[in-house]
Amino acid sequence: MTLDTKKLIAQMNEGLEMEYASHIQYVTQAAITKGPYAEALIARFEEIASDEAEHAKILRGRIVALGGTPTTKVGEIQVHPDSLKAVQINLKYERDTVTFYRSLLNQIPHDEVILYEAVEHVLQDSQEHVEELERLSGK
Ligand SMILES: [Fe+2]
Ligand SMILES: [Fe+2]
Repeated sequence: MTLDTKKLIAQMNEGLEMEYASHIQYVTQAAITKGPYAEALIARFEEIASDEAEHAKILRGRIVALGGTPTTKVGEIQVHPDSLKAVQINLKYERDTVTFYRSLLNQIPHDEVILYEAVEHVLQDSQEHVEELERLSGK
């Protein structure tokens, strides 16, 4: 398997856009969350938001290492006044993210160890986010 660097940089920038959007989405959702379960939800949203900021940092580093320029674009952001709806919105988003990083990881040869492990780490966190949000959504 050979590395199509240009295509990879473009896809990683797509991921970076999603991470920026996701970070803003979670911190904003944390700020507007109200209701009986607010405290737990806010804590979880903020915790996930810091993971998203870390993912953005990891992607920026790898994009530069590949010879690319990290994007400053931010993807689409969706927040909702109803916390349960917000959990569902984020659950769908995280599931899409898992699909995205899985396909990205499949294009990286295993011997590209730093890049492979970086994307694998982001994928693993995304899968954890899916599990956490599934639990919060009561499913
Ligand atoms: Fe992320
Ligand atoms: Fe996530």
